[in-house]
Amino acid sequence: MKNTIDENIKNIIEKKLVVLFVDKSQMLINEIFLMLHNTQDEWETKFAYSGNEALEIIRKTKIDIVISDIDLPEMDGIHLLAEIKRSHPKTICVLMSENNYDKQNKAIDYFLRKPLSLDKLKKIILNPVDFLDKNKIRLFILKMDKMPTIPSLYLKLQDIMKSEDFSFNEIAKIIENDVTMTAKILQYVNSAYFGLRYRIYDILHAVTYLGLETLKSIILTLNVFCEFTDEEMEKFSIQNLYNHSLRVSCLVSSIIQITATEDRSAEESIVAGMLHDIGKLIFIKNKPEIYTEIFQINKDKGTPLHTLENQYFGVNHAEVGSFLTEIWGFSPNLIDAINKHHNPHNALKPPLNINSAVYIANILDHDSDSREITDEYEKIQNYLDKINQMQNLSVWCSLIDNLKKNSGISLN
Ligand SMILES: [Fe+2]
Ligand SMILES: [Fe+2]
Repeated sequence: MKNTIDENIKNIIEKKLVVLFVDKSQMLINEIFLMLHNTQDEWETKFAYSGNEALEIIRKTKIDIVISDIDLPEMDGIHLLAEIKRSHPKTICVLMSENNYDKQNKAIDYFLRKPLSLDKLKKIILNPVDFLDKNKIRLFILKMDKMPTIPSLYLKLQDIMKSEDFSFNEIAKIIENDVTMTAKILQYVNSAYFGLRYRIYDILHAVTYLGLETLKSIILTLNVFCEFTDEEMEKFSIQNLYNHSLRVSCLVSSIIQITATEDRSAEESIVAGMLHDIGKLIFIKNKPEIYTEIFQINKDKGTPLHTLENQYFGVNHAEVGSFLTEIWGFSPNLIDAINKHHNPHNALKPPLNINSAVYIANILDHDSDSREITDEYEKIQNYLDKINQMQNLSVWCSLIDNLKKNSGISLN
């Protein structure tokens, strides 16, 4: 996959793009032509009014991008793009329609909502590297057979929360039907991560204390982490990754509460920490052999996992995880925090936000065993100094140390 995408990017940069528009409306084709005629030096346009006409053109000419309306005479746009993808797999297939199209379809690389604007078209045609870069994650994920599913309990809660008059009692009753999940939620809320001075014995109290978003994320996280066999758990240290995620979550929430000038969403920060490495689980589940190799190099040489993932897959766990949370409908803040949790350039910009907090918490947790001054640690020191938060660094390091002394929460 990586080679195909890289080759595609290289080919596209080096030559003029050929774009084929397919639409039954002469008026729209004229509009597109007028809209784009000033940019003809950078690419070449071709037009077809039906699926068969488009296939005829593509048989004779090499086309880089096909942008087709969904509604065509003879064959619809979806069948046309499927046929093109089958015979010309490197061609970028874009479907356009007046209505949303949110079905997963391996033939469609991109969806454009009509009416078209020059900006929308430019995004694809004039910026193919960005386009491919964005879509490489989508393409990678589409290749994965074992994607984490949203548990039915989560969906039930989501449904109830849509109605305006739902009660916490109702929510608690539904969760209580799932005995295992009830036990795990109570274990979590009473753990060192929350440092409660009292014990919570019933799920209603836990729901009220945690908040609904945190609760839903615990259900989601546990569901994803528990989908592994004993062998996988052992081989990829899934329990360690789970405890790492919980510590990061706890620290992110503390950082946000103490420092954030803007983003003060406590629930979002807990969730971001908990799910920041979820992309790793997708690699482990779908590419266990390659990930075993990656894991070993990481252990032996200390090369960061996200660097190795980029080398082996062309995408990393931060990108894959953020894409998954985007599909799951999480907030843009949260998706961004997951996406950039290894990117100091984005994360270490004032003002401190959830993205910064996840970046910092992740480094502090990883570095806490040796407490050596790494490059990343120094970057954090400089950043905190710049935003006058340096006094908190030792507090956060102690928090992580204390949580590490604790045995964590068992997944079994
Ligand atoms: Fe990570
Ligand atoms: Fe992490």
